[in-house]
Amino acid sequence: MVYDLIIIGGGPGGYLAAERAGQAGLSVLLFEKHALGGVCLNEGCIPSKALLNSAKIADYAKLGKRYGVITENVSLDHAAVIDRKNKVVRGLVMGVSMKMKKNGVTVVNDKAVIEGRDAEGFRVRAGDSIYTGQRLLIASGSVPAMPPIPGLVEGYESGYVMTNREILDMTQIPEKLVIIGGGVIGLEMASYFNSAGSKVTVVEMLDHIAGPTDREISSILYKNYKRKGVDFRLSAKVTRLSDNEVFYETTEGVQSVQADKVLVSIGRSPNTRGLGLEAIGVEADRGRIITDETMKTNISEVYAVGDVNGVSMLAHTAYREAEVCINTILGKKDRMRYHAIPSVIYTNPEVGSVGETEESAKEKGLDVKIVKLPLSYSGRYVAENSGGDGVIKILVDRKYQTIQGVHMIGSYASEIIYGAAMMIETEMRVEDIRQIVFPHPTVGEVIREAMWEI
Ligand code: NAI
Repeated sequence: MVYDLIIIGGGPGGYLAAERAGQAGLSVLLFEKHALGGVCLNEGCIPSKALLNSAKIADYAKLGKRYGVITENVSLDHAAVIDRKNKVVRGLVMGVSMKMKKNGVTVVNDKAVIEGRDAEGFRVRAGDSIYTGQRLLIASGSVPAMPPIPGLVEGYESGYVMTNREILDMTQIPEKLVIIGGGVIGLEMASYFNSAGSKVTVVEMLDHIAGPTDREISSILYKNYKRKGVDFRLSAKVTRLSDNEVFYETTEGVQSVQADKVLVSIGRSPNTRGLGLEAIGVEADRGRIITDETMKTNISEVYAVGDVNGVSMLAHTAYREAEVCINTILGKKDRMRYHAIPSVIYTNPEVGSVGETEESAKEKGLDVKIVKLPLSYSGRYVAENSGGDGVIKILVDRKYQTIQGVHMIGSYASEIIYGAAMMIETEMRVEDIRQIVFPHPTVGEVIREAMWEI
């Protein structure tokens, strides 16, 4: 049979595309070599959230006295946390599998390799079988970046160095955990293992953590984790690893830190090696498949969504790209817009961001007014957080009075930020937001409050 659509990769981009295409009546074949749900569901977003929630409960319990709650000898039972995480993941993977069935998607649990194209369509091999499809969607995701740092690959092979995959299944809490890279994965894992009792050191090349996050917000996060006992080595580039030591370069020369285990989280690379892209001539730039705003590649009827195009390596970006792709296939007008994609760091306190930061606005020469309010403007925040230092920062275009960026650190930031994304996406002006009724008392009310400070 010739399928209407063959999808390679069953992560958020691939499985959502399969679901939408199936709903629209297309015959769909989905290849997944590991487990449905991809990195996000099996070894990324979801399992890490299960771990971080346990850490949050423990953190709050440790502060019980502050809130009139009597708690004693609070600690994390790591094995039980991992056990629960596995149950959560299993249930959700089953849910994806059921959605595939419901929408008539054929799933092949095997590695797919593109073999070529003939009059019938694209030929894809998995094992000894060849499958044919009229269209091809590549959603093969990304893999952890493994730069040629001496000792890194050897350490990984011996189990001393872990990526996001292995760390989520580690059975014991290491006494000394060194994390290379103070980006999103590094910080979320620093958060969990710090709560679980490890001595955590984060070695970061830049002079600040959390990469592109608004600098004021990331410095509040930094102070919070320093207070909690995480040791940060900034402006420190890891150059070598030995059996129990991580070496890094600073302006003062080479220094080192001891580690029982090492997490490498220095970014991710698109997963295109061995896919057979060259067999049909798909254009890529350093592994990233080049796509236009409708998710088309340079080859007609070949599309790419998610981390593999490297534009915005986030599961929710992949979801939307998948929908744009299927709409394009169905002849419905749609296009991908990237300027209002929210991002969240699920630390405690959590960070939510969308749109321009103070730094990016300056770089682009945007004429913006910046309003910054402590979250203590919210009654609920004060009622729930003794001594909290949460902040919201909003950038408004001076001429058009539209929202250009919203950055938040503090409770519920992860849930509030989509409202801000909506304001940016729909080009709401300050005056429009002033007319919105926000529920009271909520932390999100600070957005409304901020509109009167502009
Ligand atoms: P990242 O790009 O967020 O951070 C990597 C960090 O490593 C950077 O700050 C970089 O300066 C640093 N670095 C690079 N080489 C170094 C070296 N030799 N020595 C010291 N530091 C070095 O990458 P990360 O954390 O690995 O995350 C990968 C992807 O996964 C990202 O695209 C991220 O968006 C996504 N992700 C998103 C999450 C979320 O939305 N909550 C959670 C986890 C991952």
